Amino acid sequence: MEIIEVNTKSRPSRVYCGEGAFAELGACVGGKEAFVVTDTNVQRLYGEQIARALPGAPVCAVPAGERHKNEKTLFKIFDAMLAAGVHRSAVLVALGGGVVGDMGGLAAALYMRGIRVVQVPTTLLAQVDSSVGGKTAIDYGGVKNVVGAFWQPDTVLCDPLFLHTLPPREIRCGLGEILKTGLLDAAVGEKLWASRGRLHDLAFLSEIAADCVRFKARVVAEDETEKSGVRKCLNLGHTTGHALELAYGRRSHGEYVLIGMWLESFIAEREGVCSPEHAQYVRDTVRLALPRIPAFRGARDCVRYALLDKKNSEKGAVSVLLSAGKGEYAERILPAARYADYLGILEERA
Ligand SMILES: NC(=O)c1ccc[n+]([C@@H]2O[C@H](COP(=O)([O-])OP(=O)(O)OC[C@H]3O[C@@H](n4cnc5c(N)ncnc54)[C@H](O)[C@@H]3O)[C@@H](O)[C@H]2O)c1
Ligand SMILES: [Zn+2]
Repeated sequence: MEIIEVNTKSRPSRVYCGEGAFAELGACVGGKEAFVVTDTNVQRLYGEQIARALPGAPVCAVPAGERHKNEKTLFKIFDAMLAAGVHRSAVLVALGGGVVGDMGGLAAALYMRGIRVVQVPTTLLAQVDSSVGGKTAIDYGGVKNVVGAFWQPDTVLCDPLFLHTLPPREIRCGLGEILKTGLLDAAVGEKLWASRGRLHDLAFLSEIAADCVRFKARVVAEDETEKSGVRKCLNLGHTTGHALELAYGRRSHGEYVLIGMWLESFIAEREGVCSPEHAQYVRDTVRLALPRIPAFRGARDCVRYALLDKKNSEKGAVSVLLSAGKGEYAERILPAARYADYLGILEERA
């Protein structure tokens, strides 16, 4: 097991990565009162282990899935905390995927103006990405993550124990963010290529998850609240990925990120941001996890979703983060019509 420090100004946190991380939960709570937020799936699979790790702690299991990441569920968590008489000195343990992590983290940020939170991510996506960095949120008014706060966990426990029960779809979802890190960090990229036959092997995934956490810890420490722009790099593949996710749904977030990075490699090449060789490298990297890129009928129309992106700064234009070389990236702002033409590449494949 490895301990990675995230040196954020508001509150430094420690991420325990590897086998045995979950066994540290009791010690992390440190004799304080604990309140567990999880979802019904995770409760069914790991309820006994949770009860053994935190004997007597109240557990609030919210319904699973993104469609429950809303104000109704958030206030149900507050109801349960009040009913259990949770004090200000208590520790909220958010144990589940990114939905539980984001919503539990926000509950901790708001309850009595903020209590400590320990994140125990149980999906690959949550272990490599969402549990680290302190972004918490719920969806509201049809807009994803629009109500939220930065609230750093004091500890994150990433244990491969939880990965054994993940369906292949959730593994592929996490791989999307792992390959994204591989394009942002040259050393991670090399390791992924060298071990490309082991991308579904849990021992390898656990090892590479620690590399992704180390990378994200560096980025977040430098730009905790996305002010300087450094943290923006984490949005690679996400402009197009999010637009497609909003328009077509069905596939997982990580899969859309992969498709986004694939499409954006053409933008980078044609806008002169990278060489044709590098663009091909990006596409080959995506194919390690997604051998066949699907076609999307009417993809051009997704530009209206891309125009809603929080990262945009100019009216009528779409901001895209592009892979410029191994471990390098650049931002480009494209007029909507030009971006829509690029989206057309996804139609041509139909
Ligand atoms: N805060 C951030 O920085 C950040 C970054 C990326 C994504 N996110 C958020 O994360 C969310 C997506 O997270 P997710 O992909 O983990 O989704 P999720 O939390 O919905 O989990 C996916 C599914 O897997 C189930 N599950 C969880 N752990 C399991 C396990 N060990 N075994 C079997 N099933 C398990 C869940 O019940 C759920 O049905 C989105 O809401 C997104 O906005 C946040
Ligand atoms: Zn993402």
